[in-house]
Amino acid sequence: MTNTKPVLILGGTGKTGRRLAERLTSQGIPVRIGSRSGSPRFDWEVPATWEPAMQGVGAVYISYYPDIAVPGAAETVGAFARLAVANGVTRMVLLSGRGETEAQRAEEMVKASGADWTILRCAWFSQNFSEGFLVESLRQGEVALPVGPVGEPFVDVDDIADASFVALTEPGHVGQLYELTGPRLLSFADAVAEIAKATGRGIRYIKISHDEFTAATAAYELPPEIAWLLNELFTEVLDGRNETLTDGVQRVLGRAPKDFSAYANETAATGIWSN
Ligand SMILES: NC(=O)c1ccc[n+]([C@@H]2O[C@H](COP(=O)([O-])OP(=O)(O)OC[C@H]3O[C@@H](n4cnc5c(N)ncnc54)[C@H](OP(=O)(O)O)[C@@H]3O)[C@@H](O)[C@H]2O)c1
Repeated sequence: MTNTKPVLILGGTGKTGRRLAERLTSQGIPVRIGSRSGSPRFDWEVPATWEPAMQGVGAVYISYYPDIAVPGAAETVGAFARLAVANGVTRMVLLSGRGETEAQRAEEMVKASGADWTILRCAWFSQNFSEGFLVESLRQGEVALPVGPVGEPFVDVDDIADASFVALTEPGHVGQLYELTGPRLLSFADAVAEIAKATGRGIRYIKISHDEFTAATAAYELPPEIAWLLNELFTEVLDGRNETLTDGVQRVLGRAPKDFSAYANETAATGIWSN
């Protein structure tokens, strides 16, 4: 990557992309936000917007929306990667997910595109509890999900942003797949208990059935693809297949990943979970 060409950050206003943009900008590396609010506008659903967004950039960070586990994501991400290579943009960092058929297919598509790739295959983000769909339930004091005691190694998005920054700015990361997890397995009940402790509030966790969850998401009028996705993640992916810790953060960053309790304490201090 040259120091003068901007990095195109797809999802550059989202959980990981926004933090990567901050890190690059603070080091004087120009960024171009690739999203519907970027300039030029980038929209995954409008392929005609892809090529203008990639003109003159030196590298791309690919965060797909709404989720790389959604059927068809692999074809779309693959088409984008091939178009970028055809436009001379070969350096790519792909944000992927663990234990998801479609995500692993998307990884293969990017590898086959001719890109100089790095893959960050990530666990559930800790920030889903503060910047995602769970924040409102936490404020209201009760989180109800169709998931039991399975352990998930929640990863902090600051670690993902640090890893993507290093991958894009330092040599030695092309052709590397890093599986990024936090340092500890927690059930969703454990995670909610950590947040309750950090906030000093009583917040309950309840395991509900898939039917109850489907009814609850319908009541919240979530877009159908998001409701489908949540059910998919809770029924398929959280079956124990990802109940392992990895050394990905240590390998890229040379330090341990951030623990969920540090995330919970820092985030509680912002007041975001206060009702
Ligand atoms: N959340 C997790 O736990 C997790 C774990 C592993 C992997 N992942 C992967 O991470 C990726 C991002 O997920 P996230 O939950 O963190 O979301 P996010 O990055 O917070 O998503 C929001 C971003 O997507 C952009 N966006 C929305 N609609 C768009 C469209 N039609 N075209 C282009 N950009 C659009 C938004 O900007 P605008 O509104 O300006 O368009 C914003 O920058 C997904 O591919 C997911 O599979 C997530």
